[in-house]
Amino acid sequence: MAILVTGGAGFIGSHTCVELQQAGYDVVVYDNLSNSSEKSLKRVEAITGKPVKFYKGDILDRDRLNEVFEKEQLDSCIHFAGLKAVGESVAKPWEYYENNIAGTLTLVDVMRKHNCKNIIFSSSATVYGDPAEIPITENCPKGQCTNPYGWTKSMLEQILSDMQKADNEWNVVLLRYFNPIGAHPSGTMGENPNGIPNNLMPYITQVAVGKLPELGVFGNDYDTPDGTGVRDYIHVVDLAKGHVKALKKIEENAGLKIYNLGTGVGYSVLDIVKNFEEANDIKIPYSIKPRRAGDIATCYSDATKAKEELGWEAEFGIKEMCADSWRWQKNNPNGYED
Ligand code: NAD
Ligand code: UFG
Repeated sequence: MAILVTGGAGFIGSHTCVELQQAGYDVVVYDNLSNSSEKSLKRVEAITGKPVKFYKGDILDRDRLNEVFEKEQLDSCIHFAGLKAVGESVAKPWEYYENNIAGTLTLVDVMRKHNCKNIIFSSSATVYGDPAEIPITENCPKGQCTNPYGWTKSMLEQILSDMQKADNEWNVVLLRYFNPIGAHPSGTMGENPNGIPNNLMPYITQVAVGKLPELGVFGNDYDTPDGTGVRDYIHVVDLAKGHVKALKKIEENAGLKIYNLGTGVGYSVLDIVKNFEEANDIKIPYSIKPRRAGDIATCYSDATKAKEELGWEAEFGIKEMCADSWRWQKNNPNGYED
């Protein structure tokens, strides 16, 4: 039996393939490569010494999905595939709803027709909106999302939960990621954004490597200790390991479960700049810019539930996240495209 990993060539998916293979699972990756390179899977193979089975395909393509389910023995799916650029989702809402929602509906329909009823879904802290409580527990009510991307996550959580309630043969684990950064410590795998990065850490590493002149800090007048936005940054390898633990939970017939995957610690934008500079001995020039539309002041998790129920907690600290992000960028200035 193998695990279907949709979006497995992407940032979090490829790191999760490493952890799955190292934990003894066979993986089958399904990805349309719209935001990734197949080369990431070669790097997975180099780290684990095991081949990765890869099918190029779209989650909207029912025939291709059926073909994969007919060829492979699949008993669970970790579903990463999706579009994730917040700003782009505001400009192209239909494309986001179609890709993420229609794509997931097609995927789960094919899954149930092949009697594969175990799914781990990549959700996001964005479903909490401007959170009603800090630190955020899983009991915190979901909030108003500020963009279509966020709504796709919120709606898909609802759809998958309703499906599990109607048919308790399904096991559904919703993982709400906080802010994944870092890279594999080997320096051979990492985040590979197209164009100018939207997210903080890839922006910083591109300033460090000389591709961008300076970081713009979006607002220093928030109600936070230094006025800049506070987030719960989590090392992508820790996040990947969380999926292996979630899979173990599914093997116990978990039903419906929801977990935050974060560290429980919040860092401001300026904390990240300072830690990056200290970890790597590189100066990051920055200037203060206006607030970015849709941003909130503070977002960090209470990570207790995942610790108690999954036996998972983040092991890497902020210095390792900064050092590993930089090692990847420095060794691969053009990502996988060299
Ligand atoms: P990523 O873009 O690197 O990976 C997503 C992968 O899905 C890519 O390889 C892409 O080619 C593939 N894909 C997209 N649409 C597809 C489709 N229709 N059919 C097949 N493949 C398709 O992103 P990531 O950072 O690895 O994120 C993985 C998942 O985690 C996404 O669902 C994302 O929304 C979610 N998530 C990410 C973050 C983050 O900050 N990175 C935070 C919370 C949640
Ligand atoms: N920031 C800057 N300058 C930049 C980029 C970001 O100051 O160039 C600031 C932001 O204002 C924010 C913090 O850095 O305060 C983090 O911003 P990111 O864009 O890296 O991350 P977000 O918290 O905005 O969002 C990310 C993902 C979402 C996901 C969310 C919660 O992009 O998809 O984490 O998991 F939903």
